[in-house]
Amino acid sequence: MAQVKLTNVKKIYQGNVVAVHDFNLDIQDKEFIVFVGPSGCGKSTTLRMVAGLEEISEGTVEIDGEVVNDLQPKDRHISMVFQNYALYPHLTVFENMAFPLRLLRPKMSNKEIYDRVTSAAEVLGITEYLTRKPKALSGGQRQRVAIGRAMVKDCKVFLMDEPLSNLDAKLRNQMRAEIILLRKRINTTFIYVTHDQTEAMTLGDRIVIMKDGYIMQVGTPTEVFDEPANLFVAQFIGAPMMNTVKCQLIKEGKKYFVNPYGVKLEVDGEKAQILADNGVETRDIILGFRPEHVDIVKENGIPVSVLVNEMMGSEIHLHVLTSDNAKLIVRVPTVRLTKEEREGLTAGKELQISFPGKVMHFFDPETEKSLLVKE
Ligand SMILES: Nc1ncnc2c1ncn2[C@@H]1O[C@H](COP(=O)(O)OP(=O)(O)OP(=O)(O)O)[C@@H](O)[C@H]1O
Ligand SMILES: [Mg+2]
Repeated sequence: MAQVKLTNVKKIYQGNVVAVHDFNLDIQDKEFIVFVGPSGCGKSTTLRMVAGLEEISEGTVEIDGEVVNDLQPKDRHISMVFQNYALYPHLTVFENMAFPLRLLRPKMSNKEIYDRVTSAAEVLGITEYLTRKPKALSGGQRQRVAIGRAMVKDCKVFLMDEPLSNLDAKLRNQMRAEIILLRKRINTTFIYVTHDQTEAMTLGDRIVIMKDGYIMQVGTPTEVFDEPANLFVAQFIGAPMMNTVKCQLIKEGKKYFVNPYGVKLEVDGEKAQILADNGVETRDIILGFRPEHVDIVKENGIPVSVLVNEMMGSEIHLHVLTSDNAKLIVRVPTVRLTKEEREGLTAGKELQISFPGKVMHFFDPETEKSLLVKE
């Protein structure tokens, strides 16, 4: 059992730098929580306050119902993996992994230490490296040792701060899958920090999206993708980034329409219902739509011209320019195109684009809040 609860947590560094403002979050037992956001948004600071590596300026952190603000890191029953591995260069892989166990009081038997280290090594596929020193390992292997060292100890909460960011893209994908397996095996509460939205989406049961020390939204991957609470979340989650156009949202009877570049498109019924329930009238908005939801159409679309064609293999990312020189991105699956069509999508080519009413998002231009958040 390990719930983690942060209540009104605030971090003020020396010089009155407020790194985290009023952070509130209830993490359930065995939940995998990801903190994600751009550099400097306060992810590591928050994690380090849970770990006890950073003093909490205001508010409380509870682990299993116990306020831990004044507990030493070693008394919090946490394990932590850092971005830079922090392995001891003069110790073998085995001894690096055994290190936290050798510190335990009362002492753990050598047999127990051996069993725990070898079984963690097995899980992580590093058995054959147990007698090597860290410098004789690749980055990915070192990272596994660092994870192994955190795994051997019984802990209530597993904390990871950008554990994969030093790895190349391919290895990162592989390790991401291993973390999913690891999580199933050790079945404990995880708090995982990353600035990578793909990692956040694929690993998290829930994602906490942060900006400038504030929580912008907490939700499952599906919720934050389908129902972003504000423009920041809408554009942070999903790649390439969500397109935006300033236009009007028009209410006609029970129906709603948008008019990007003078093209009138109907909002789908379910979204119209939410807008109506929220009492939204005709108004200016920022309209959002994702690149993968854009269709190239023959008529009644928004006229654009191709700027850049990025061939990604299974899809093309078309960067297009609108009549007022705004840039939009269109994702076209290559299987839908003939060879001629594919080759025709070159710079300067004029097209019309559209998108269905089901995939539209509407934001207040001032507050940047979504008009679809149910009130
Ligand atoms: N020891 C410190 N003293 C003063 N300010 C600090 C200190 N540590 C961090 N900060 C500031 O607090 C803010 C949050 O930093 P933090 O390291 O938590 O960000 P982060 O989200 O982990 O970023 P990154 O993705 O770059 O690791 C930043 O503005 C940072 O400059
Ligand atoms: Mg950080």
